[in-house]
Amino acid sequence: MALASCAALCASLSFNVGFQVTPYSCTPHAAGVAVSTASGQSSVGCATSFTPTVDVCQVTLGIKTSGTGNVYSEVWLPNNNASSWNGRTLTTDNGGVNGCVHYVDMAYVTGLGFAAIGDNAGHNGSSFDMTWSLNNNEAIIDWSHRARHAAVVTGKSVVNQFYKKASAYNYYLGCSAGGAQGLQSAQKYPSDFNGIIAGSSANDFNHLQDWSSRFLQLTGPVGDPKFLNATQWLTVQAAIFAQCDKAIDGVDDGILEDPTQCRFDSSVLACNATVTTNCLTSTQVNTVNEVFTELYDTQGRLLYPSLLYGAQYDAFRLGQLSGGPQGIAQDWFRGGIHNDSSFNVANVGQSDYALADSLDNLHGNPSAFSADLNAFKNANGKIMMYHGMADPLVSSSNSQRYYLKVAKTMGLTNTQIDPFLRYFRVAGMAHCGVGGISGAGAWMFGQSGVASSAPNNIITNLVNWVEKGQAPDTLQGTKFWYDTPALGIQFQKNHCRFPYRTTYNGGDSTKPSGWSCNLISDWQTCAVGAHPRLCNADGTFQ
Ligand SMILES: *[C@@H]1O[C@H](CO)[C@@H](O)[C@H](O)[C@H]1NC(C)=O
Ligand SMILES: *[C@@H]1O[C@H](CO)[C@@H](O)[C@H](O)[C@H]1NC(C)=O
Ligand SMILES: *[C@@H]1O[C@H](CO)[C@@H](O)[C@H](O)[C@H]1NC(C)=O
Ligand SMILES: *[C@@H]1O[C@H](CO)[C@@H](O)[C@H](O)[C@H]1NC(C)=O
Ligand SMILES: *[C@@H]1O[C@H](CO)[C@@H](O)[C@H](O)[C@H]1NC(C)=O
Repeated sequence: MALASCAALCASLSFNVGFQVTPYSCTPHAAGVAVSTASGQSSVGCATSFTPTVDVCQVTLGIKTSGTGNVYSEVWLPNNNASSWNGRTLTTDNGGVNGCVHYVDMAYVTGLGFAAIGDNAGHNGSSFDMTWSLNNNEAIIDWSHRARHAAVVTGKSVVNQFYKKASAYNYYLGCSAGGAQGLQSAQKYPSDFNGIIAGSSANDFNHLQDWSSRFLQLTGPVGDPKFLNATQWLTVQAAIFAQCDKAIDGVDDGILEDPTQCRFDSSVLACNATVTTNCLTSTQVNTVNEVFTELYDTQGRLLYPSLLYGAQYDAFRLGQLSGGPQGIAQDWFRGGIHNDSSFNVANVGQSDYALADSLDNLHGNPSAFSADLNAFKNANGKIMMYHGMADPLVSSSNSQRYYLKVAKTMGLTNTQIDPFLRYFRVAGMAHCGVGGISGAGAWMFGQSGVASSAPNNIITNLVNWVEKGQAPDTLQGTKFWYDTPALGIQFQKNHCRFPYRTTYNGGDSTKPSGWSCNLISDWQTCAVGAHPRLCNADGTFQ
């Protein structure tokens, strides 16, 4: 196959994809040579440069999605030789609420041979800035689902026109809001992808923002009698590990294998006549208890599950418990919910929760919490979900809750869900590496450029499942010494798929063979009194 010339491609591109598409540039880039990013990206906190790992033809495009909606997208086409392209596409995500083409992952997956598709979700902006949602509902709809779909159908067409051959399989890779975007695609556009990796998903977005904004109300601002500082959260952390690490999972490694099993007795934290240092007031002990509670509505229905034990100190470091407003929640309530740039997020309450829910349709369903995946299943699609059990920003219990909602909505047992959806609980993993914080667990499995050195690769796992029917029963993760691959492997673990629990079997705990997968027999129990509490009293989901 002779490769079309990259530079000449733009002049010949034409589209029949249901959107107005304008090619901006078609530029060949050599492997290993740094390239500056377009100013709309570089000037708003997105990456300022990228370095392809293989030769690529970079196509940039504008896609009109509505009267005012505009998406910026890129397609990277491996073009060194006739076998550079592996015949597939892989679409990358937007993390947080950013409008950044994910250049690190575009370089990573083209290095694996995929034609990579990326987009700005309909706006340019950084991860924790959602001010663009103010008075701009078209931008919200684009960010919710429309931009991604437009970029995918356009990207597939570019691939077809460049290689003179349609992509055989189409994949998606995302984490956090990017995980939610993957689930959204399965829900709304079941034929966009054959396989989806949805990590640490921030779906049920409205309730997540309700939950995020509540922490400030629970902790109070710095100096409030309720407030705990970083040192005090470390004291809490030590007490939690003393009660719930080895005592429950059998291994004293600073990793709570399944924190949903922890029943922490916070009374040990209280100062008394004999213990007067490294202890908390009764008001602060109450804060600790509150921080680990679920969020309910006025009818006692569950809006969002609790933060999991083990995530508390990182939750402080990443701003959930440090006494200030949570940035995304603040911008969302000001923009999408109230169209009022001065709305005070400290006052968010039940009426705002209800209002946010009532606006979900107007917004294009950013909740991404529909659990009817029949169309995706019938199209033979596969989803691999994973979530860190020490996630400080998005409770991993919510991924478990989504799995339960799928089971209930579609009327399926776990063995009936296995053919199209597998959810892996990753012990000791934080939130997609946000803030440089990754966690103590075996968290690397090729889910991003940063984690690409791991021996096991989740993208390969998914491709083998979709194309060869080799379903992944476990997800092998690797912990390198000090998270530095050059220093060698510290330990590895095969993370079990839910509803199996990764369980120590008495062997070498640093080796996959030291752990087994045991079925959690009561995995569907989720109502009043259940641990974790994941559904309403009547077994339904909000
Ligand atoms: C976003 O940035 C891209 C790349 O510079 C630019 O082409 C596009 O016009 C920008 N979009 C908006 C809405 O400003
Ligand atoms: C083709 O290009 C890829 C990089 O895109 C490279 O890894 C591979 O070795 C090349 N194959 C041949 C036969 O030159
Ligand atoms: C916010 O303002 C935009 C633009 O006027 C409007 O389309 C949208 O419906 C408003 N949103 C709400 C929640 O009122
Ligand atoms: C936290 O508060 C305790 C008790 O007041 C104090 O001893 C400690 O120095 C404080 N730590 C930080 C990091 O402010
Ligand atoms: C004080 O608290 C410690 C730690 O929980 C406990 O062991 C001790 O019995 C308590 N002392 C009194 C006098 O209550």
